[in-house]
Amino acid sequence: MIPKSCKRLAEVDFPIAVVSAHSAREKSIRHGHPSTLHLWWARRPLAACRAMLLALLLPDPCDANCPAEFKEAARGLLGRVYRQATEAGDKALRHSLLRFIGDFANWDNSAKPAYLEVGRGLVKAAHGAEPPLVVDPFAGGGSIPLEALRLGCDAFASDLNPVACLILKVMLEDIPRHGPELADELRKVGAEIKKQAEKELSQYYPPDPDGARPIAYLWARTVLCERCGAEIPLLRTTWLAKRHNKIKKRYTKLISLGVRGNTKTKAVTLSIDRHDVPTATLPEIPSPTIANGIATCRCCPGVLSAARVRSQLIRQKGGADVVIDESGNRISGARLMAVAHRAADGLAYRLPTRRDYLAVRSAQSRTTALSDQLPFESLSPLRPSPNSRGVSGATRIGITDFGRVFTMRQKLALHVLSTIARDVESAAKRAVSLAVSKLAERSTCFVTWINSTEAPRGTFARQALTIAWDFIELVPIVGDEEFSELIDAMVEVAAQIASCCPRGGQVEQAVANEPQLPKESAQVWFTDPPYYDSVPYADLSDLFYVWLKRILQPRSLNRFADESDGWLTPKTPESTWDEAHRVDGKPKDRQFFERSLAGAFAVGRATLVDSGIGCVVFAHKSTEGWEALLSGILEAGWVIVASWPVATERTARLNAKQAAALATSVHLVCRPRPEDAGVGDWSDVLRELPNRIGDWMERLSAEGVRGADLVFACIGPAMEIYSRYSKVEDAEGREIPLGGDPEASEPHKRGFLAYVWEIVGRTALQQVLGTAEARARNGAAGALEEDARLTALFLWTHQSTSSNGASNGAAVESAEDEDAEATDEDDDEAPSGTGRKGLTLIYDVVRRFSQPLGIHLDTWNGRIIETRKGIVRLLPVKERAERLLGEDGASGVADVIERSRGGPMNYQFGFMNKAEERPAKTNGKGRKRGKSTPDEAPTVAPGTTTLDRVHIAMLLQASGKANALRAMLKAEQERGPDFLRLANALSALYPRDSEEKRLLDAMLLAVPR
Ligand SMILES: C[S@@+](CC[C@H](N)C(=O)[O-])C[C@H]1O[C@@H](n2cnc3c(N)ncnc32)[C@H](O)[C@@H]1O
Repeated sequence: MIPKSCKRLAEVDFPIAVVSAHSAREKSIRHGHPSTLHLWWARRPLAACRAMLLALLLPDPCDANCPAEFKEAARGLLGRVYRQATEAGDKALRHSLLRFIGDFANWDNSAKPAYLEVGRGLVKAAHGAEPPLVVDPFAGGGSIPLEALRLGCDAFASDLNPVACLILKVMLEDIPRHGPELADELRKVGAEIKKQAEKELSQYYPPDPDGARPIAYLWARTVLCERCGAEIPLLRTTWLAKRHNKIKKRYTKLISLGVRGNTKTKAVTLSIDRHDVPTATLPEIPSPTIANGIATCRCCPGVLSAARVRSQLIRQKGGADVVIDESGNRISGARLMAVAHRAADGLAYRLPTRRDYLAVRSAQSRTTALSDQLPFESLSPLRPSPNSRGVSGATRIGITDFGRVFTMRQKLALHVLSTIARDVESAAKRAVSLAVSKLAERSTCFVTWINSTEAPRGTFARQALTIAWDFIELVPIVGDEEFSELIDAMVEVAAQIASCCPRGGQVEQAVANEPQLPKESAQVWFTDPPYYDSVPYADLSDLFYVWLKRILQPRSLNRFADESDGWLTPKTPESTWDEAHRVDGKPKDRQFFERSLAGAFAVGRATLVDSGIGCVVFAHKSTEGWEALLSGILEAGWVIVASWPVATERTARLNAKQAAALATSVHLVCRPRPEDAGVGDWSDVLRELPNRIGDWMERLSAEGVRGADLVFACIGPAMEIYSRYSKVEDAEGREIPLGGDPEASEPHKRGFLAYVWEIVGRTALQQVLGTAEARARNGAAGALEEDARLTALFLWTHQSTSSNGASNGAAVESAEDEDAEATDEDDDEAPSGTGRKGLTLIYDVVRRFSQPLGIHLDTWNGRIIETRKGIVRLLPVKERAERLLGEDGASGVADVIERSRGGPMNYQFGFMNKAEERPAKTNGKGRKRGKSTPDEAPTVAPGTTTLDRVHIAMLLQASGKANALRAMLKAEQERGPDFLRLANALSALYPRDSEEKRLLDAMLLAVPR
């Protein structure tokens, strides 16, 4: 047994870069991966969980209290996977153990007998024959408990949500209990269900007269032009297929939809247009009929505002169903635009026919007769938080209940499958019910078509119900596709899990802050709680639940089922900031989140044996989210003893396009704080902080962690210093709280975390600009001006972590995202300025960094940044052109510069003064800004700043004014080093593929050597 005084590996080191690479790669693995069992949000990569669990379970061989028997056994075990014996000495053994942890994180090794044997052997060598118990009270999709089982531990997994619990039960109970037979049983039952459903449903999806079987129908919601009365089918793109070969840089398949309006008859006709390929350039095709929520008529110049579009759709209750007369003539509602079927060379498309509409009509008649058995439960129109939309987006177009989330034919298909699954009597029943629920996510009127891959994008691509103007209706039972595919994927998962988890775990539906286990019963408490307000799990999971409760006994599925939740998933106790729900009459806010996590962490601490260890995974892009989590941990009596960021995201995620999205989650390793922990001295804490943070930033930079990820990863070492005390006090005995008023100057009012952000910001500035800038608070001599510091800090924070260790910038576009046009247009309160170019960061983060470094955001609003709805956008240089170059633009400036050749150049162009006089703009909080008032620090330098001059040079470069640019660069070199120092620093910080980077680098090439 490991003595309490002996450190675990996770307290001293962790292979961050290797585990990050395996974690990120795992996201693209489909076959047999447990995540394909069923969708769950914010799943942790198994690689990260496996690696962290081993590091939590194993003692550090370099610790003086590490048992000698463990070291001996470990050496022997490692010899089974590594030919070369581990060198003598504890350090070498620690190194080998970390290497094994990294290698075992590789998905390819995760089921190899040799690795499994060694992993389990090491756990046994550390903990003895009795398997250690690993507890996860926010288990979700089950990554942590599944990995505990893989390592031969006992696992206790609980979650509040009944859908999560069902996934957990199938994965941790059913599959290990029945072994590979469950996979066989699932295959058999799945085939029977498919056969039965096909019998009932095929009439509603008839084959074409030539025998071709449709696999998908593309629908467009419609509105009427309020100018000419013509119908407008709402299409966000007219591309059906736009395949591109990245290596050959050629389009290989191009098919578009022709949508033409007749100005006289007001009829809108369709065509399917195939374009010549291969080609490097895209042909001209008809434009979309809706962009940014505004619809354009094809029969007249009329446009319909976003509000009018929405109001017409509300009248149609979402407009996903078509209205057809008895003869198959479409009257109104959604319009069928194209039908896809398999052909010898991939997918082919045809125009819709009356047969298609007749089939829909007969499905509608049958669905109407079933209406009392179908979902009717309400959707909440309230937005959960500024950071998440939940299901509220759908209600903006009149979809107010779950019945309307599906078309009538989709409902019929899901009803038929649910009814057959309900009557199944088999060990695979729970797994089969998951297959139907999984199909539901691909069978809503929010599923869209990705034309670059010719594949559907599921309802929850964005962790919300976001409006889709056009949508794809997949045929659920056709050949080996859809339902069969889902079953096949699940069979693979079942076989995979059965092969490496022979022991089952225990699953309970429970609220995390209610004890489920005896005190001091677990060796490891490892959990991944909700990320503040990021995902409203319960709201979203109702889309699955409305079908699951029609298949399985509601009581067995959800022990919290209650009328107050509309007989849906439990919302009240969920530990999220979600203002769509109320507790004690008040919307669930930050305080609720903090309280409920503190409760759960206290229960976790009590569940742990005295020598046990805990770990909490967290990611959030706001400092507020972090403060709420950390105060929960501290309040519950934990000490943070180490922290390891692991990059878990592929960089091409939907939300990584412009806003800096986090790629890492931080694993905070915790131990129970001793009852007799002393009181810390603030001056000692503050003295220790810069060095710890500086060293940590250096280590993390070397491991490829960048920008906001790096910022939040610094919380760990900072908290190690702060949390080991029962409290920290200043010389006057005043307690220094964790958070406080960042604008305050006294530590007991300002709070500890404000100092952490300040030190991180200062260290970052020192790295990218230099010591003078880092000390530049209130304008130190020799430092670049405030706007340069703000831009550098902004770009530094915006950099994103890449799982292969390279900085890549969050603004990179990817082919996968190319037509991901699901924008915020469905939401009046969209947090970001959708459609506006430029890099963005959360206001709170920018403010917390800049304020202590003497940067006044208000001063620069409208000049180099723009703040709207809690988001700060760095203005692209081209948007600054008028302010910098005046109405005459680059030509005018070029003339002035060229005329001054040889003479002093002070850039005091007349128009610049005019620009300074423009009315100040308001920020998100409504305060005026612009000129400093007399009693404020004179922060705005008159005339141009170094940043302005770098931008002018970039604009001259952009407009090809080579002579002027050369003259300017020469003058700048004579003026001093600042211009080039800043230009070079910014070039290293701008995203690789950005226009700014291209301009800067081209401009720098023109610098005379
Ligand atoms: C971040 S997710 C866990 C994801 C999981 N680690 C995985 O890999 O799939 C957080 C989970 O906490 C659950 N949850 C939220 N509030 C809860 C509460 N008060 N008690 C128990 N579970 C809760 C949610 O249902 C969600 O599944």
